[in-house]
Amino acid sequence: MVVMYYKEKAFKVAENVYEPAEDTFLLADNLGARKGERVLEFGTGCGLLAILAARAGAQVVATDINPAALECARANAVTHGVADNIDFRLGDLFEPVAGERFDLVIFNPPYLPVEPDEALNGPLDRAWEAGPDGRVIIDRFLRELPNYLTPNGRALFVQSSLANISKTIQMLKTNGFHVNTLRKKLSFEELCLLRCFIASK
Ligand SMILES: C[S@@+](CC[C@H](N)C(=O)[O-])C[C@H]1O[C@@H](n2cnc3c(N)ncnc32)[C@H](O)[C@@H]1O
Repeated sequence: MVVMYYKEKAFKVAENVYEPAEDTFLLADNLGARKGERVLEFGTGCGLLAILAARAGAQVVATDINPAALECARANAVTHGVADNIDFRLGDLFEPVAGERFDLVIFNPPYLPVEPDEALNGPLDRAWEAGPDGRVIIDRFLRELPNYLTPNGRALFVQSSLANISKTIQMLKTNGFHVNTLRKKLSFEELCLLRCFIASK
């Protein structure tokens, strides 16, 4: 068990749970969740982003495919006094929220390119392993996203230069989204925060 801090707030990170890093903080610093909104976070890990959204007054659904992550996130939500405002659900991407719509969808997806014979597929490995081109999860997410947003809904997620950011922007535009980006250089990659919403507004 590790304890990490974001803006002086402590979050416990259990074994086999992703420890918040630069990608998490890029989302956290730009979250923009508002009081009364319905927010969905995919792959909540230790729950940091879901908890920040709940502390801002949103009603949150937080999912993960890793049961250890959900248990850890739930414990952190109790500590932060927002357990009643977050509905934790186990499952693969959109499966636990079938038929629902959200004002804000947040995702820090796995995006590390890994060849099939090198993939470890353990609970923690699945936090970053994303197939040969790093796009196995993000492509599924982008295809389904429009069906899960309210008419004024938006999505906020991160991508790495390791996994073809231009393709992501192209897919979003093809699906009718406006896209804003914020880039941050790290030593081995560039992270890109993408904020998107349907272009008709
Ligand atoms: C990079 S970590 C991000 C964790 C946390 N949101 C953060 O920003 O610190 C990705 C998370 O997505 C989860 N995940 C991976 N594949 C998933 C899937 N198909 N459906 C739901 N969650 C998934 C992982 O278990 C992991 O907790």
